[in-house]
Amino acid sequence: MTDLPGAPVSYWIASTPTTRYDAAPAELDVDVAVLGGGIAGLSTAAALQTRGRSVAVVEAGRIVEGVTGHTTAKVAASHGLLYAYLIDAFGEERARLYADSQQAALDHIVRTTADEGVDCDLVRTPSYVYSEDPAEVETLEREVEAATRLGLPVSLVKDVPLPYDVAGAIRYDDQARFHPRRYLLHLAERIVANGGLVVESTRALDVDEGDPCVVTTDRGVVRARDVVVATHIPFLDRGMFFARQFPKRDYVVAARIDPTHAPDGMFLSTETPTHSVRVTEDGDALLLIVGGEGHTTGRADDTEDRYRRLEAWTTERFGVTDFTHRWSTQDYTSTDRVPFVGRFHPGAKRLWVATAFGAWGMTNGTMSGLLLADLVTGVENPWAGVYDPGRIGPVTTKAKEFVKENVAVAKELVTGYLSPGDVASVDDLAPGEAAVVRTGLSKTAAYRDDDGVLHAVSARCTHLGCVVGWNAAERSWDCPCHGSRFGVDGAVLQGPAVEPLARKDLQSGKT
Ligand SMILES: Cc1cc2nc3c(=O)[nH]c(=O)nc-3n(C[C@H](O)[C@H](O)[C@H](O)COP(=O)(O)OP(=O)(O)OC[C@H]3O[C@@H](n4cnc5c(N)ncnc54)[C@H](O)[C@@H]3O)c2cc1C
Ligand code: FES
Repeated sequence: MTDLPGAPVSYWIASTPTTRYDAAPAELDVDVAVLGGGIAGLSTAAALQTRGRSVAVVEAGRIVEGVTGHTTAKVAASHGLLYAYLIDAFGEERARLYADSQQAALDHIVRTTADEGVDCDLVRTPSYVYSEDPAEVETLEREVEAATRLGLPVSLVKDVPLPYDVAGAIRYDDQARFHPRRYLLHLAERIVANGGLVVESTRALDVDEGDPCVVTTDRGVVRARDVVVATHIPFLDRGMFFARQFPKRDYVVAARIDPTHAPDGMFLSTETPTHSVRVTEDGDALLLIVGGEGHTTGRADDTEDRYRRLEAWTTERFGVTDFTHRWSTQDYTSTDRVPFVGRFHPGAKRLWVATAFGAWGMTNGTMSGLLLADLVTGVENPWAGVYDPGRIGPVTTKAKEFVKENVAVAKELVTGYLSPGDVASVDDLAPGEAAVVRTGLSKTAAYRDDDGVLHAVSARCTHLGCVVGWNAAERSWDCPCHGSRFGVDGAVLQGPAVEPLARKDLQSGKT
């Protein structure tokens, strides 16, 4: 990597203090246990607390260090090319409810920030969805017509404040950008100040649905009348969420930019690969943040090249060279492109879920908090039907792609284990290299670190058994089936897996 910083660290995490909340006690009783301390979990806990519920946020690692700590944090209802599709697929009424709920979430963040004096660099700014391809202009026009019908503040424009030409763009007025960790660390402090609990280093392992529900964690048990699963992808397999949404990994770079050359607004291209652009204040300086180069998790063997391509694109388009941060993360999209927020499964009485935000979790995570606060407290909410996880969605192109993906998953489950390893022996691995090696009847994921020490773990994903692949850019083992990720020591980095990869001792032959 040329001018990029060595280790992937998100700007949001690097520019805020690390939280130090205690782990959960062995036993805990609350009205609502919210599992997961990202934007969905913290927004839900904060909203339920204002309804008089006692809440505990249970976080496996540290709060706001998951996907929310690695986002690009545009707070916008401009979700790519979506609204014409929503009208076609769900009808105008449901499409309007979707649009209303996203605007309401944006307004909620803006209001909370103003009312509570949150220092989170929130700036109102337009958001543009643009194309460089003249053939796409008709699609943009259709989208503007749809979004206008739904009451969104849009217009079709030709001139956008970017240093390169575009064929056309949809401009959404009065959207926002912010520092997601500053906003959410404030919510966490408010929850605790008002008598709620935030616990870290406490992984939820199972939920027994009863009265009360009992959450088993690696620290003990939490008893709660209601449980909200806001762990990004749910870690419980009931509800089959892992088979109804798929993960896409994206890369992000940040570079210093001269304020006089900085683009005024937020931007998302419709081309493939997509590019996402915004700026953020960094003290007296300004950073340009660019995202893109996405792929299905676990299905790219050129992860380092993707950072390089993003760096080259950013330099070519904006003339910046002083790169300060790089990071990557992943989000899930449902087969019908609408998140799942509501009852965990059709028979669930006290178990709730918020997932599949389709890379728009700032508004969707906030909307989840507002919606779930109503559902848990028995208040009717017009958005409920739109996001109902039990809905039968339309058969979309995404759904068809998804059938193909599932065939690929099934194939991976069978052939991943039968095929030979990437290299014949771990002796072939040089320092810094990793590979899947066949060892007898099983497969081993082996990594030799820069000091020559070998780290060997089972290559069989603990979720449903697919064979993991090496992600060189993040030094992790990523599962091509449903997006679980593991460290070189086998520890779970991201679900749906909850168990680590088993360690292997190749020297002694022990596993
Ligand atoms: C590159 C990229 C850029 C993006 N940019 C934008 C953007 O500009 N605007 C926008 O609106 N959205 C954006 N998104 C999407 C948005 O960031 C996500 O949708 C959102 O952050 C997801 O929030 P979450 O709370 O569901 O997940 P997370 O933030 O991942 O929170 C889930 C938490 O649950 C914890 N957890 C997991 N398992 C357990 C367990 N078993 N027990 C306890 N805790 C557990 C995790 O440690 C984690 O902290 C982007 C996504 C990507 C990939
Ligand atoms: S994430 Fe499902 S098998 Fe690995």
